[in-house]
Amino acid sequence: MWLPGRMGKTQYYTATSIDGFIADPQGSLDWLFEAAGDGHDERFPRFFAGVGAMIMGATTYEWVLAHERLLDEPGKWQQYYGEIPSWVLTHRSLPAVPGARLSFAAGDVRRVHEEAALAAGSRNVWLVGGGDLVGQFADQGLLDEIQLGVAPVTLGGGAPLLPRRLLAADLTLTAVEHDARFVYATYQVMHR
Ligand SMILES: NC(=O)c1ccc[n+]([C@@H]2O[C@H](COP(=O)([O-])OP(=O)(O)OC[C@H]3O[C@@H](n4cnc5c(N)ncnc54)[C@H](OP(=O)(O)O)[C@@H]3O)[C@@H](O)[C@H]2O)c1
Repeated sequence: MWLPGRMGKTQYYTATSIDGFIADPQGSLDWLFEAAGDGHDERFPRFFAGVGAMIMGATTYEWVLAHERLLDEPGKWQQYYGEIPSWVLTHRSLPAVPGARLSFAAGDVRRVHEEAALAAGSRNVWLVGGGDLVGQFADQGLLDEIQLGVAPVTLGGGAPLLPRRLLAADLTLTAVEHDARFVYATYQVMHR
């Protein structure tokens, strides 16, 4: 949904397995790091340069906290995300990364989206995941674009990419690229 005066998009940018999972049944992303190898992906810095706000679910936040040991090394948050304002959706009281520009919210995603879009201005709002969280934005007509990096992996189960029913009339393929391993596909979400 284009809010009055808003130039930026609300984008779901994520890596996925071929069979549509963003984490394996144990919540691990080892399969993704293994598939990516040490190849330098220029796409993420290019994408992130357009981001003005980030929103993520509790599991994703907890994964980043644990994986990067952010409570021991809080400065890493700024190294990765700078001063980009971020929102974590949770019903719980989760530890904040000291010094990070981070807010916690719960409930209707429309309120969080309004705050994030305002903060992002002409830049984009990045929905980091997970899938159901992004689905909540799609339900409200607030998802504009999906950018996928499809790893050459099937997982058979895990955290779903986007557990909603969006049909061909809802999604327009706007770009496709590939490298030696990944397919990158961008879809515009049609607001009907
Ligand atoms: N492949 C990739 O590039 C990629 C990208 C992103 C994430 N991931 C991984 O994928 C997995 C995603 O996990 P997930 O599917 O569980 O999703 P998630 O969105 O990260 O977390 C879901 C949790 O967020 C909270 N939540 C969601 N909506 C809410 C709302 N409206 N109000 C309040 N709280 C809300 C709830 O937690 P509580 O009620 O418990 O607080 C819910 O159980 C993680 O393991 C993550 O590391 C992978």
